[in-house]
Amino acid sequence: MKKFLALVLALAMIFALVGCAGGGGGVKTYKVGVSIYKFDDNFMTVYRNELDAYFKTLNTDKVKYDVTIQDANNDMNTQSAQVDAFIAQKVDVMIINLVQSTAADSITQKAKAANIPVVYINRQPSDDDMAKWDRITYVGADARQSGTFQGEIIRDLPNHGDANGDGVVSYVMIMGDPENVDAQFRTEYSIKALTDAGIKVEELFKQRGDWDQAKGQELAATALAQFGTKIDVIFCNNDAMALGAAQAITAAGRTVGKDIYLVGVDALDEAVALVKSGGMTGTVLNDAVGQSHAAVDAAIKFINGQPVDKIIMIDYQKVTV
Ligand code: BGC
Repeated sequence: MKKFLALVLALAMIFALVGCAGGGGGVKTYKVGVSIYKFDDNFMTVYRNELDAYFKTLNTDKVKYDVTIQDANNDMNTQSAQVDAFIAQKVDVMIINLVQSTAADSITQKAKAANIPVVYINRQPSDDDMAKWDRITYVGADARQSGTFQGEIIRDLPNHGDANGDGVVSYVMIMGDPENVDAQFRTEYSIKALTDAGIKVEELFKQRGDWDQAKGQELAATALAQFGTKIDVIFCNNDAMALGAAQAITAAGRTVGKDIYLVGVDALDEAVALVKSGGMTGTVLNDAVGQSHAAVDAAIKFINGQPVDKIIMIDYQKVTV
């Protein structure tokens, strides 16, 4: 009997030691599931590369982040399946760039049932949806601010954007995906900044270019062919579309800064280079570095059981030189 007890004790000690080695001395790995609405998006490419790079800098000899980043291909069903797979793999946290902001509800319900926190990024869910669980947050930027900054860049020109001097700022609006609040607010607030300053405006043309450079070029070319020198300003909800519009402007024999103005949002490297060389009037920095780092920091707080703010907003900045 004594021998038996001694054996049991010895075994218990061995198990305890093994347990300690596993938990104390080893590396703790956390699984992070990321789904991006589509990889083929200029801004979200910068964002996702920075997200990945920042996670790597946080690996230590004690903690590792095993990050899986998936392309939802602009398809909500694909994204839902990715979330289901992340849940089945028991990831510790998910970072989701929604294909459709209205899907936040169903994703939150699934995540809540599995008790896996979610950091929503870039495409803002409604306040109602954000109130549905305390282990979700949204990291983004206030799109109203970016629109206002676009309008102010035009307002602050010596002629307040009236390139042809006819007393009215006649504009073309090339929109992103209209389901996205970034597209809605940039469209509204860019013009509001002009009308708030008492500037007369006229909308000549407004169409969705879905954030895409080729579509931006096509739409700008159509508008330029249709309205010619009546156009004073081309507003694009993002830089990808503005880069396309810049090509169309050159092809139409027009000159930015001389007989037309062009603004975007994001401050992609190519757009900033154009602003510097005069090919674009201005852009607005959409801080991919600040946002991606804030998203990762929030994800890690969730992992560590720390409280996270419901909404984390990173400021935009005007870029005119
Ligand atoms: C960016 C766009 C991007 C979109 C994707 C916006 O905040 O300005 O460039 O295409 O997010 O959702």
